Amino acid sequence: MTTKNPTNPTFLIKGLAGRKTLKGVAHINGAKNAALKAMAAAVLFNKKVRLENVPHTADIDTMAAILEKLGAKISWIGEQNGEAEVVRDHIMEIDTTTMTGTTAAETGTEKNTHTDIDPTLAAGMRASVVLTGPLLARFGKVSFPAPGGCVIGARPIDLFIEGYKKMGAKVTLEDGLYKISAPNGLSGMDDFFHTISVGGTETLMMAAVLAKGKTILSNCAKEPEIVNVAEWLISCGAKIKGAGTSTIEIIGNGRNIGDDKKLLEPTKHFVTIPDRIEAGSFILLGALCAKDLVIENCEPKHLTAVLHLLNDSGVLIDTKPNAVQIKGNSRVNSSFKSFDIRTKEYPGFPTDLQAPAVTFLTQVTGESNILETIFEGRFKYVEDLETLGANITVLNPREVRVKGPTAFVQSVEKEVGGGDAPADLYAHDIRAGFAIVMAALTAKGQFVIHNAHLIDRGYEKLEERLKALGANIERVL
Ligand code: EPU
Repeated sequence: MTTKNPTNPTFLIKGLAGRKTLKGVAHINGAKNAALKAMAAAVLFNKKVRLENVPHTADIDTMAAILEKLGAKISWIGEQNGEAEVVRDHIMEIDTTTMTGTTAAETGTEKNTHTDIDPTLAAGMRASVVLTGPLLARFGKVSFPAPGGCVIGARPIDLFIEGYKKMGAKVTLEDGLYKISAPNGLSGMDDFFHTISVGGTETLMMAAVLAKGKTILSNCAKEPEIVNVAEWLISCGAKIKGAGTSTIEIIGNGRNIGDDKKLLEPTKHFVTIPDRIEAGSFILLGALCAKDLVIENCEPKHLTAVLHLLNDSGVLIDTKPNAVQIKGNSRVNSSFKSFDIRTKEYPGFPTDLQAPAVTFLTQVTGESNILETIFEGRFKYVEDLETLGANITVLNPREVRVKGPTAFVQSVEKEVGGGDAPADLYAHDIRAGFAIVMAALTAKGQFVIHNAHLIDRGYEKLEERLKALGANIERVL
């Protein structure tokens, strides 16, 4: 029995038992990992900014809640409150002019302070750390909780801390809380990232936009989401060169704290690029479960590594300028060939598609080795695939071997599903959650996916979109 708790929804899925019947059009939303960074970048502006094609995922809501606690005003355009149906156009406005950067002690009120990132909200979403750069650059101070280990690995923040120190900031860590201050503003610097980091690259790039002098960041991440945010900042006056390459050069605005004339001017709206991970997720799902599926509003060139492997595996994919079609997909999955994966920074195979790709590989013929090079703890979902019958050997915390094909069933051992009761499966993180949904849809039987709120962090209304393609999936609150 699942408990009825709206904060912990489950998905109830009836599997397709290997049939490939899904059909239709999957519309891809804007990239959550770009929109989250644009929301943080709103702090660099002197007026209300408008962000378009923002996906309405739970992580976006968390970032909005953090910004609101810091004093910003956030609104979804097209949203109707009250009794009327809620209409969202994926357009968000963020007004940070209401942020004062004053502390409770300074104002003498009990109000939440305007540079202290809410520890509880931050604990729920690692991406909150990207806010530290813009807050420090604008207000000359920021505090935030030291992130603990998370479900996909240790996820340290040393690159951020070292970068701020190089920019002249003072950093202290007291009772699990980092306090960073740069009352005279940040200075440009030269940094080399010892590890390629998406968040590190974005955060220091944003901080450097308001700093005094030139910053050179080397060994940067090249993800398209970084380019998306950089191009917007450039169109609004920031001097950034090289985003999307391994060296980024920023000439700061030379701002003193309090000088609002040197904040950015929102002369252009931010338009979020399509979510390549969401698109890749639907492509992998379509390869296993769809007869004919159009994945529209995506950017196939951001998915080259994935499309090559699937193509070599035998999946028929038609690539168009802004869409991908999996058509005439009538071959049984066991006729697809296995392949090896080594996750890599962009443009390599994305770690965020590692789990959905492993689900794919359980259904195809042959042996595959999967090496996770980015995070050290990203195979927790393997045990759920094993309860369905997958043949997976964990070689070490970063490497597994899959032998396919396996026809997934509700209960390999009778007790797993408890007779006719649906079998219990768990979402461990956003992407592993999608992988488990994929596995359940492939399988024969009925399944309850617990912790669907983790899937909601990255995929907007997934069950409604899968239902529209013909899947038998319900959200149970
Ligand atoms: N790292 C350090 N020190 C740091 C920062 C990172 O050693 O100060 C290490 C990490 O431990 C990791 C590696 O650098 O081993 C790469 O991590 P990165 O900083 O690139 O990850 P991130 O910025 O925290 C973003 C995405 C993740 C995605 C990774 C890798 C967002 C909000 N998150 O995380 O997305 O997996 O890049 O591509 O952009 C998801 O969407 O489900 C998700 C987890």
